[in-house]
Amino acid sequence: MPPNVESCTIASMSDVWECYRLELAAVEDQIRQNLGSKVALVNTVAAHILNSGGKRIRPLLLILCARLAGKGDRFEICPPGADVLLASLIEYIHTATLLHDDVVDHAEFRRGRRTAGGLWGNQVAILVGDYLYSKAICHIVGFRNQDVNECLSEACRKMAEGELMQLSYKDDASISEREYLKIVEYKTGSLIAAACRIGAVVADADLALRDALFQFGQAIGVAFQVADDTLDYSAPLESLGKSRGKDLGEGNVTLPLLHLRKHCTEAERARLAEVMEKKPNGNGELAWVVSLMERYGSIDYAMATARGFVQAAKVHLDLFEESVHKRALQAVAEYMVSRDH
Ligand code: IPE
Ligand code: IPE
Ligand code: MG
Ligand code: MG
Repeated sequence: MPPNVESCTIASMSDVWECYRLELAAVEDQIRQNLGSKVALVNTVAAHILNSGGKRIRPLLLILCARLAGKGDRFEICPPGADVLLASLIEYIHTATLLHDDVVDHAEFRRGRRTAGGLWGNQVAILVGDYLYSKAICHIVGFRNQDVNECLSEACRKMAEGELMQLSYKDDASISEREYLKIVEYKTGSLIAAACRIGAVVADADLALRDALFQFGQAIGVAFQVADDTLDYSAPLESLGKSRGKDLGEGNVTLPLLHLRKHCTEAERARLAEVMEKKPNGNGELAWVVSLMERYGSIDYAMATARGFVQAAKVHLDLFEESVHKRALQAVAEYMVSRDH
């Protein structure tokens, strides 16, 4: 029997997945339906990554924000079905960024599978990423909604700038926490913020509510990436579906490493610089870095920072009355810093 969302009790993220499973199933259908290209290689590669079990956090957030911002009994999506379609298109954009990101990061695994670049080569991965971006844009402009157009094009610009900022700080351990957080806000916060705001737009919410959900999304997006950067050091092996220790190996200085560099001894800092210089692939050096991070509280510090962003995010929900949808968004916000993959 379909769950009646209004009567759901939401204590944790698993209740959210269960409660909104029909909406999420509709998004999955939409993701598959819109894929079609006449070029078989596009379909094969796109299906490889789209069917590999992403968490679908961004589509979920769009749907939840639309429900929250909608006007109670008179809740209406404009045009009907726009929430599900836009949610699927945001997942296309997200998937495109992952295809590109895995090329940039020389990644071998994504969602527990070999990366598209590893299987078909980087040229294919980049071009299928371009295809998914363009496919999303083709559908999005069809809505003729200037707010949606501006919101998503700005998110795409910021994601690209965030990745480029990160690239320009490669191997640069002098990056400040402020600069690091700016990168995170751009490369990850921006699309999550757009997903939340667009939920409010399709529910025809007023500007203050659209802005509040944008701010909510941005802050949980930052928390999400900071937690992800911490999991890159601390996650149990096998849980991530992608290799651990990638950031150190790629010369990306993230919050746990920033904290460690600030607090360790001069000798340890010199050894860390050597390890970074060598671009470790083996687990020995990574284990040494992680043990130092544990000793100096760097993992705890980074997770506490991520939790701070979740707390700040939740304040933006104060504008909304209590409801099952608000409770669901609070649970998603908590999940950002409690997930293990
Ligand atoms: C991965 O995003 C990239 C980051 C922003 C950390 P997700 O963790 O949402 O990836 P999937 O879609 O669930 O695989
Ligand atoms: C995720 O960045 C990609 C974008 C947000 C564009 P990362 O490189 O930090 O994430 P993972 O670890 O590969 O998922
Ligand atoms: Mg990466
Ligand atoms: Mg990256």
